[in-house]
Amino acid sequence: MAVKISPSVLTSDFLELAKDIERLEKAGTDMLHLDVMDGIFVPNISFGVPIIKSIRKHTRLPLDVHLMITEPHRYIKDFAECSDILGFHYEAGSDNAETLKQIRSYGIKSCITIKPCTEPEEIFDLLPLCDMVLVMSVEPGFGGQKFMTSALDKLTVLRREIDRLGLDIMLEVDGGINKETAPLAVKAGADVLVAGSFVFSDQMEENVKLIKSLG
Ligand code: DX5
Ligand code: ZN
Repeated sequence: MAVKISPSVLTSDFLELAKDIERLEKAGTDMLHLDVMDGIFVPNISFGVPIIKSIRKHTRLPLDVHLMITEPHRYIKDFAECSDILGFHYEAGSDNAETLKQIRSYGIKSCITIKPCTEPEEIFDLLPLCDMVLVMSVEPGFGGQKFMTSALDKLTVLRREIDRLGLDIMLEVDGGINKETAPLAVKAGADVLVAGSFVFSDQMEENVKLIKSLG
């Protein structure tokens, strides 16, 4: 199973981002992970559509947008215009099935995300509507936190169910990924690894390649 890396720009220096994206492209990055936070669903505020549109103009890498906002269905149309994969939190939505369908109606990939407090079985009935599932391995809100090993069992359970149903769904993990935790997540069934502080470091290229080599 090939492992994809989706670097999160959350902890990057935004004035250096154009150069950093070119470096990431050359190093073999598969997609870019963009964390949208509203200060209500999570206790932090990041960026929104205008910044993602600027990034969109600068790169052909697929954009993997992680909405950490309340009432995500209200904003799907705006974000769909600048996303390739658009995900929102199971815990934030009202009609999650409808929101997943709405995302796909724009011709992009849909993703549902679960926080550490959510059991994987809760999203089983939504799997046929998903192109990707994101398991958080930290409490969403900030980069640079410690990986929660409780995510490993959730990945295993979801991988088993995805395979049992014969669905073509990417399984992504986000939070605390580094050279120790990445192999554990891959072994548990993840095939897309988000990495923020591990990649936006003084070993950007080496760390991208290290994660890619796990596949
Ligand atoms: C946290 C975000 C993550 C974060 C990951 O809420 O969803 O994408 O940027 O950062 P690291 O890899 O440093 O944990
Ligand atoms: Zn994220």
